[in-house]
Amino acid sequence: MQMNGSSSVFATAPNIPADAIFALTAEYVADEFPDKVNLGQGAYRDETGQPWVTTSVARSREIITTQGLLHEYLPILGLPEFRHRAAELALGREIHAARQSQLATCQTLSGTGALHLAGQIIKSCQSSLPKVYIPEPTWSNHHLIFSTLGYQCHEFQYYDPSTRALDFSSYLFMLNSVDPGSIVILHACAHNPTGLDPTPQQWKEIGGIMKRRQLFPLFDAAYLGFNSGDFEQDAFALRYFIHDLEMESAVCLSFAKNMGLYGERVGCLVLATSTAVVARNSQSVLESIQRSEISNPPAFGARVAATILGDNDLRKLWFQDMKTMSSRIQSMRRLLYDYLVKHNTPGNWNHILEQSGMFGFLGLAPEIVVELKDKYHIYMAANSRISIAGLNAGNVEYVARSIATVLTREQNDSHR
Ligand code: LMR
Repeated sequence: MQMNGSSSVFATAPNIPADAIFALTAEYVADEFPDKVNLGQGAYRDETGQPWVTTSVARSREIITTQGLLHEYLPILGLPEFRHRAAELALGREIHAARQSQLATCQTLSGTGALHLAGQIIKSCQSSLPKVYIPEPTWSNHHLIFSTLGYQCHEFQYYDPSTRALDFSSYLFMLNSVDPGSIVILHACAHNPTGLDPTPQQWKEIGGIMKRRQLFPLFDAAYLGFNSGDFEQDAFALRYFIHDLEMESAVCLSFAKNMGLYGERVGCLVLATSTAVVARNSQSVLESIQRSEISNPPAFGARVAATILGDNDLRKLWFQDMKTMSSRIQSMRRLLYDYLVKHNTPGNWNHILEQSGMFGFLGLAPEIVVELKDKYHIYMAANSRISIAGLNAGNVEYVARSIATVLTREQNDSHR
């Protein structure tokens, strides 16, 4: 039979542009310039620019291997001890003990899988789909995940470019004006891409309005412990909503960044529900959705994580690993600022020091970002988000000097 395009089942498939951040990584890999710098995708690099297998993960892998690796299926909901320990970690021992019967948990394909599953279960439980409110800017996948599920996604202004700060009044305005029952995507900490989080006081205000207006908090918690190096501090907001405000919430956990398990896709969806019966039923729905989508999740990464979380010494080692990563990022943030100032880079760069987490949001125009890539082989997201972990003692001055050169030239051109 002859094949021709118009008879294809897929004839109407549009040509969707490649995902920007993965396409940028591919461009970086193909670049042959020896001193190229990758500040694109958010993946930790050590001071030599190499990926780092954390000490706790390396040790956990040894233990698992010594125990003998079997390759059996996990249960549909995932490795039970992983689910239990992940939920306990996120909520803290006391809150977890108090709320355990009201929790539904499911191991997921990292944070993305958890967000998707949260969207699926809400969809299957609601007769009409609630609207989803997403900060602008945000991680690009938020829109894709929820719109692919059929949700109407709305943006709210999170960042004020004129002050380079959180636009708290727009945030509150949105919370006060949207329909009850709407879902609000909350970055639990280390807002991606701006690096700007509400203060604890602001979180309390956000939570208070959300509770009063019956909005549903959906936490994207991809950076717990990685942001400040202190897990408790980073988990403040979600614990406040679930424990102090007693709100039903979804928490989407990822161990990609904080354990460095990027490729293993280790995540967990934790639903804090209002009663034990609701939790039990929700868990059965999660199990049924999971069975239809992936049957059962991958085992190895969940074993690595569960082994770390279940052993006091390994857990301490992991907390130290998070400090190692977050403090190196903090010191690079400082060094980048110092070099930008030293090289008389036009503009004020205080915002870099005010942001936290893996990313720096530089505030550069798109054409400057392109010039830095094309002329200086420095790769960053189009919105000028940089993954600070890509900086090290060997390249940070080069990056600052290049930014200074491009911005000075631009300033001189505009004065002509
Ligand atoms: C990022 O924001 O760069 C990472 O979370 C990687 C990704 O999947 O986009």
